[in-house]
Amino acid sequence: MNHQHLSIEPVENGPRPFYGRRQSARYYAHRVKESLATRVSKFICTVILFVLFVVGLIAFILWLSLRPHRPRFHLEEFSFPALAQPNAAPETAFIHFNVTIRNPNQKVEIHYDSIESTVYYREQAIGTASLASEAFDQESKNTTVFYKEISGPSLTVSGQRWINMQSDRTAGSVSFRLEITSVIKFEVFSRWNTKKHKMHANCPAVVGPDGLLLAPFRDERCSIYFT
Ligand SMILES: *[C@@H]1O[C@H](CO)[C@@H](O)[C@H](O)[C@H]1NC(C)=O
Ligand SMILES: *[C@@H]1O[C@H](CO)[C@@H](O)[C@H](O)[C@H]1NC(C)=O
Repeated sequence: MNHQHLSIEPVENGPRPFYGRRQSARYYAHRVKESLATRVSKFICTVILFVLFVVGLIAFILWLSLRPHRPRFHLEEFSFPALAQPNAAPETAFIHFNVTIRNPNQKVEIHYDSIESTVYYREQAIGTASLASEAFDQESKNTTVFYKEISGPSLTVSGQRWINMQSDRTAGSVSFRLEITSVIKFEVFSRWNTKKHKMHANCPAVVGPDGLLLAPFRDERCSIYFT
């Protein structure tokens, strides 16, 4: 073996280390073996990284298309006609409202246990109504309208409360809040169920002196939170 034939390294600037003949041959053989091992392990790493990347990408796309979105609630109508008649007996008053619930998902059904609604005035419950007294399944992309009237004994608006409402009305508007509660779960591809979640939707309902929902609150999306 000749030292000259083994000098395959590019010439670098600066002083080169001195190796003896035998030592130098062993050194280069070692370098060749090492670089082969490096190349093989680099290749394996590249393959593993590529496989991980593809698996991650598929998981991300599945997650994007199957991730359940919460239902959307909109308050379409809310009226309290008795407010427009200051001399009406509060016992004969009624409230009616119209709420739409939309399932915005593509492949995800929503199961609701019963759906309840409560109207609040000054953070006190003044009336309740059941929107769905039994469990209810909503298909993907479905919108369902719920129309409800609360009256009689389930609406408590007499006494001081009625006086407060009349004074709010004189001031220009009366603020209510409609809260809708249900326990929901999602079903992906009609196959996999999520856990049950207790859901609350809050719809601000501000009516004018005529007892009708003011324009800025009509068709408003209600905020949702889970507990
Ligand atoms: C509920 O409100 C929507 C939008 O205003 C209306 O199209 C629909 O007819 C109403 N449904 C009922 C039952 O009042
Ligand atoms: C939405 O679902 C309800 C209840 O299953 C059904 O009565 C209604 O027809 C559906 N609406 C549409 C637009 O498919």
